[in-house]
Amino acid sequence: MSWELLLALLALCAPLLLVVQLVRFLRADGDLTLLWAEWQGRRPEWELTDMVVWVTGASSGIGEELAYQLSKLGVSLVLSARRVHELERVKRRCLENGILKGKDILVLPFDLTDRSAHEAATKAVVQEFGKIDILVNNGGRSQRSLCAETSLDVFKELMELNYLGTVSLTKCVLPHMIERKQGKIVTVNSLAGITSVPLSSGYCASKHALRGFLNALRTELVDYPGIIVSNICPGPVQSNIVKNALTEELTKTIENEGDQSYKMPTSRCVRLMLISMANDLKEVWIADQPFLFMAYLGQYAPTWAWWITSKLGKKRIENFKSGVDADCAYFSSSKKKAN
Ligand SMILES: NC(=O)c1ccc[n+]([C@@H]2O[C@H](COP(=O)([O-])OP(=O)(O)OC[C@H]3O[C@@H](n4cnc5c(N)ncnc54)[C@H](OP(=O)(O)O)[C@@H]3O)[C@@H](O)[C@H]2O)c1
Repeated sequence: MSWELLLALLALCAPLLLVVQLVRFLRADGDLTLLWAEWQGRRPEWELTDMVVWVTGASSGIGEELAYQLSKLGVSLVLSARRVHELERVKRRCLENGILKGKDILVLPFDLTDRSAHEAATKAVVQEFGKIDILVNNGGRSQRSLCAETSLDVFKELMELNYLGTVSLTKCVLPHMIERKQGKIVTVNSLAGITSVPLSSGYCASKHALRGFLNALRTELVDYPGIIVSNICPGPVQSNIVKNALTEELTKTIENEGDQSYKMPTSRCVRLMLISMANDLKEVWIADQPFLFMAYLGQYAPTWAWWITSKLGKKRIENFKSGVDADCAYFSSSKKKAN
C-alpha cells in the first residue's frame, strides 16, 4: 500500500473515531477509565472473594446496596451505621439473597461522629475476622440550605461526619493494613468533591477536604503498593441522601425530598464501585450526563464549569425552594413535572 493511500485512509478514519468517542461519552455513566475497566478489566467476581469488607453507612442507600452485592461474592461483611435495627434488616436480606452464612456478617453499630468509638470498633472487626481487607468509608450526610441561612453548627457537623469521621476510621484501620502491607481504603466521596454546587457549601467543603486527604495519603503510601486508596465520586444516585440531608439548623429536616427516581439506580452505581475496587482504580466518577460532563469540565476547564454552575445554580435554588429536588434543575421540564 502506498503512503498516500495510507494517509488518506487515516484521514478518513480520524473523524469517524472522533464521532465514535463522542457518542461513547454522551452515553457514558462513568469516567472513561472506569468504563474501560468494566469492559476489559478484572471482574469483582474474581477479585473480591474471600475478603473481609467493612462498610459504613450500610443501613441505607448506597451502603445497603453494596452489602447486597457483596453478599453474593462470598466475602465476610461488617455492616456499620447508627441504626442497629436497620443494619439487622440489611443483614437478614443479605442472608436471604446472598451466599453468606450468619457467621459471615457482623453488625457493628456506631456513630461516625463519636471518634472515641472507632478504635474499639476496629479491634472488634479484627477480633471477629482476623483481618480487614477493604474499608468502605461510605457513611455520610448531604446538605440542602443556603450558606447565608445556615448555622455554623451544620458546617461543623458535616465536617465532623463526612471528613473527620472518615479520617479517624481510616487512621484506625491504616496501621493494620500497613502491618499486612495490603488493603483497600475505599471512600465514597461525591462529584460535589470536584465541582461545587449551590445549597451544599458545607457538604462540598467536606467532600473537597476528603479528596485532598486521600490524594495526600496515597502519596505517603508509595512504599506500600499493596495498599490502595480509592476515591469514589458519584453524581446523583437513588438513595435517602436528600431525605437525610442537613438544612439550615441541626434540628430542621427536609420537608419534601421530591422525586428521586430520575437519578442513577443504586445498583448501577454500586456495580461500578465494585469494578473500581476490583481494578484498584484511584479515583472514579460515576454519573449520568450532564453531571459527568460537568465533572470533566470542573477538572479540566474550571472557568467554564464556574460559568455554567452560576447559570444552572440559580435554577437549582429556585427548584429547591419550590419543593422540587434541586438536582432536577438539569433535567427537562417533563421530568420535573413528574415531581
Ligand atoms: N446518593 C447520592 O446522590 C450521592 C451522591 C454522591 C455521594 N454520595 C455519598 O454516598 C454516601 C452514602 O449516602 P447515600 O446516598 O447512600 O445516603 P443515605 O441513604 O442517606 O445513607 C447514608 C448512610 O450513612 C449513615 N450515617 C449517617 N450519619 C451517620 C453517623 N453519624 N454515623 C454513622 N453512620 C451515619 C446512615 O445510617 P444511620 O442513619 O443508620 O446512621 C446511612 O446508612 C455518602 O457519603 C454520600 O455523601 C451520595
